[in-house]
Amino acid sequence: MSLICAALMTLAAMQVTKSLSVSDLDLSTIKQGWGKAVKDRSVTDTPLSIGGRPFSKGVGTHAKSVFKIRLDGRAVRFHAWCGVDDNARSERASVVLRVLGDGNVLWQSPRMTWKQAAVQVDVPLKNVKILTLEGGDGGDGIDYDHVDWADATITYSGKVPLAFVPPLERPIILTPPAPPTPRINGPSVYGARPGHPFLYQVPATGRRPMRFSAKGLPKGLSINPENGQISGRIEKPGTYPVKISASNRLGLATRTLRIVAGGEIALTPQMGWNSWYVWLGHVSDKIMRASADAMVSTGLVNHGWQYVDIDDCWARVPGSKDPVNGGPTRDASGNLLPNAKFPDMKALTDYIHSKGLKAGIYTSPGPTTCAGFEGAFRHEEQDAKTFADWGFDLLKYDWCSYKAEAPGVEGLKKPYALMGSLLKQQDRDIVLNLCQYGMGEVWKWGKEVGGQSWRTADDLGNGYNLFRDSFALYDRQHLESYSGPGAFNDPDYLLLGQVAGPNGTTQPTQFTPNEQYTQVSMWCLLAAPLILSGDITHLDPFTLSLLTNDEVLAIDQDSLVKAARKVSQVGETQVWARPLEDGGTAVGLFNLGDDEATVNAMWADVGLKGRHKVRDLWRQKDVGTYSERFSAKVPRHGVVLVKLTSAASSGRARRRPTG
Ligand code: GAL
Repeated sequence: MSLICAALMTLAAMQVTKSLSVSDLDLSTIKQGWGKAVKDRSVTDTPLSIGGRPFSKGVGTHAKSVFKIRLDGRAVRFHAWCGVDDNARSERASVVLRVLGDGNVLWQSPRMTWKQAAVQVDVPLKNVKILTLEGGDGGDGIDYDHVDWADATITYSGKVPLAFVPPLERPIILTPPAPPTPRINGPSVYGARPGHPFLYQVPATGRRPMRFSAKGLPKGLSINPENGQISGRIEKPGTYPVKISASNRLGLATRTLRIVAGGEIALTPQMGWNSWYVWLGHVSDKIMRASADAMVSTGLVNHGWQYVDIDDCWARVPGSKDPVNGGPTRDASGNLLPNAKFPDMKALTDYIHSKGLKAGIYTSPGPTTCAGFEGAFRHEEQDAKTFADWGFDLLKYDWCSYKAEAPGVEGLKKPYALMGSLLKQQDRDIVLNLCQYGMGEVWKWGKEVGGQSWRTADDLGNGYNLFRDSFALYDRQHLESYSGPGAFNDPDYLLLGQVAGPNGTTQPTQFTPNEQYTQVSMWCLLAAPLILSGDITHLDPFTLSLLTNDEVLAIDQDSLVKAARKVSQVGETQVWARPLEDGGTAVGLFNLGDDEATVNAMWADVGLKGRHKVRDLWRQKDVGTYSERFSAKVPRHGVVLVKLTSAASSGRARRRPTG
């Protein structure tokens, strides 16, 4: 026996290290932004050459490219020379290449441009299961970004590495349909300023017709019994517990909504739709009205979705003669003028409000917005008043073209503090969403300058990575400690369903079905604003199911507003958890890796003891009672989202409400 063992060990030690030319792998597995990857030649089928240096072997690709190779821990090193292929022939060619091992960045190139000499990458791959070669854009779009991985080799032992395309999972609907009996959804707390126009649509699912009533409404408010819209103006500040009822032929539902009439608005994160990622510059009054209609006809409004927000491109372009976007940007008195696609802003918000919904608008503190339209610079006071007069309920305030007037954080705060105080002076509740991509650690001062939410990073749609960047940022900066009622970190919009394609067309989201579950689950755990930015007028059943799971949405809208933090990480699996108002705990078991994995949520990590009931929130099913831990198999890039409730208290130990 010992002889056999010894022989085996010698054999293992002798296992020969071999070298594989990466260009001998199946290159059809490479996903890229233009053309097809070419073996031993550039993406345009010319001899490989970087900075004048020719190479006989390698892979010619085009940004953004992703090449996945399964190593299963048997590889030793990856080596290559890389850069922009000489045949790119453009100053606009700029790339950043990365080598990742199991999702971790092992190497990253500097920003590389045309004619620049090849850079060498040489990284150890010990224990790496999946190697990813990424050819990314250098920040100016992917045009001419011809990426070469020249002389790329993997040294390994045992079975040959294999290029693969991660299997695309099927979009499986987990959300059960809402019952026909009435159910009141949405947050349990709502903030409004006394004396301002008040509008709250009671979100309720169940068969129509439905009748609504409300007991204990503050003076000045009334409820429309037919559609459940509460409106009016609250006369006096105070906290008003209101007992809301919704009934239909099949039953009755009641629920208490605490209306807090004080200085704070947006006590729970805003939920709605924004035009940007689907319509870009094509947005119009017609699209906004159709989107408001869709908010109602899809039933989203019954689950708490409220805001219908116009993003950039509704104003006019300074100096432009274009018949649609051109003409004077302001009237003789300096009042903003919308472009030809928005004939009457007040009529538009009236229309949106008539459906129980709220309306949002966008501008920038600079002279022009990011897309080059008139901004608020030097007209802030007038523009804030215009937005209020037009009837808007939310302003997204970008940063583009603004030049800070003071160094550091003071300069970053200034335009937002100005707009924050101007909005507070209006005769309306207007939510302020800061959009300056996280500069100067905006989460530390976004609330102080009058914001209710602030974008924490770059645009998710431009390749800011859902997993690598978002999860890492929220963990590293402990962003949970900066969120609370009326103060939300905003990781950008929900990229679900159909998003913008070329020339005003739409195309499916870049996220796989599992990644879509991950996005919604993570956003809810983070207490992030939930703003869909896919085409709301064409929602497929899967996308709709992601947006209408009331138990999942209840996590986002929980009135305790304690955002989740990462409580553990093992390899590429992470567990995030947040406490809830009713004493329960929401826990997300995430798998950021490319293979299915078992994820363990340990009570000790979450800060719990004893026996807890576990409810799967996407399936809306109890899965059992557990002690010490809950483990689940989680598919690649997927999530299992659960709620833990103490088996001893059955969750009756309510936490003290805030707000
Ligand atoms: C970006 C912003 C996007 C969108 C765009 C409009 O700065 O991050 O969400 O608003 O401007 O041009």
